[in-house]
Amino acid sequence: MKYDYLIVGAGLFGSVFAYEANKRGKYCLVIDKRSHIGGNIYCESVDGINVHKYGAHIFHTSNKAVWQYINQFAEFNNYINSPVAIYKDELYNLPFNMNTFIKMWGIKTPAQAKAKIKEQIRELNIVEPSNLEEQALSLVGRDVYEKLVKGYTEKQWGRSCTKLPSFIIKRLPLRFTYDNNYFNDRYQGIPMGGYTPIIEKMLSGIEVRLNTDYFDYIKSEKDCAKKTVFTGMIDAFFGYNLGYLEYRSLRFEHERLDCDNYQGNAVVNYTEREVPYTRIIEHKHFEFGKQPSTVISKEYPSEWKPGDEPYYPVNDEKNNGLYDRYAKLAESQSDVIFGGRLGSYRYYDMDKVIDAALKAVALEFGN
Ligand code: FDA
Repeated sequence: MKYDYLIVGAGLFGSVFAYEANKRGKYCLVIDKRSHIGGNIYCESVDGINVHKYGAHIFHTSNKAVWQYINQFAEFNNYINSPVAIYKDELYNLPFNMNTFIKMWGIKTPAQAKAKIKEQIRELNIVEPSNLEEQALSLVGRDVYEKLVKGYTEKQWGRSCTKLPSFIIKRLPLRFTYDNNYFNDRYQGIPMGGYTPIIEKMLSGIEVRLNTDYFDYIKSEKDCAKKTVFTGMIDAFFGYNLGYLEYRSLRFEHERLDCDNYQGNAVVNYTEREVPYTRIIEHKHFEFGKQPSTVISKEYPSEWKPGDEPYYPVNDEKNNGLYDRYAKLAESQSDVIFGGRLGSYRYYDMDKVIDAALKAVALEFGN
């Protein structure tokens, strides 16, 4: 056999595994069906602006070991994610905090904000929420729900909040301080120069073949490696023989504009139902760019059908049950390691993917 490992997917999981295996003297081939490395964290440079082609990617973690690990491949800047929301002609700070409440109700103190929310929740008198709308209302009250949650959630899921199950929203964090930092994590930032150079460094010295689909490749190269690391869709690996796992998809409209500052912030959410996109990303602000032009991306949620780009797993009871059955099948494949967001059918932030890849490495190599 030519290779020790055939690694399917040049995304973060595949690249961390490849880097660690290569470091241990293992001979790896990385293939990806896309025309570039990086998977969904791929950035493309336009006028010197690193465009996050598959949606905004902000690195945040409380895992010190993962933070130290990723910092060997890049220097991170001090970007703090502080999105704003536009509802009709009103603009609010996110996440829901004192800046949001002062704008919404003209109140000044945390006690006043708490009382307002409590009063709205009490008036609704929802004892046991039977759908997402009732769940959200019973967590944040009518105003925050109507202006900042309802339309956005309905666009994301493509259906009315009254038709969505309540478990989708377990909590909606309310912050009674003037703090617009979206994340609570200890470490946060954007790699200076974007994410692609991180993957380039991880894959340096390793054979990579792009535009190469695993299912075509193994037709002629079935026995090319002792083991396979598979980060594609687990149901696809098994020929969908138990059925299709479902996803929500996204469509991005990227636009280069001849102005230096379109919206003054990297992330602006559009929370009313009537605006068809959920958010506009202005990429230069992730790296405090001073270029004379700018690039924006509008993000449109869409239904997923087999063949579309899978973005968000729909982790309801039906799909989780189906995934468990695929995971059982996977256990019988002793020469295949399944990993990453598609191989594990779960939404994984980047830090969790790195952690999972390092755990797979430890399991495989024992160190
Ligand atoms: P990824 O999908 O990146 O890589 C898998 C690779 O396998 C792909 O390149 C694919 O082409 C390839 N592949 C699949 N099937 C194949 C086949 N049959 N043959 C060959 N190749 C095949 N996280 C975070 O921490 N902060 C954030 O801000 C965000 N933001 C964000 C926005 C959006 C819109 C999404 C959908 C996700 C995020 N994330 C995130 C999550 C982040 O994108 C995620 O953690 C990593 O990209 C997952 O890396 P993987 O390697 O698991 O998958």
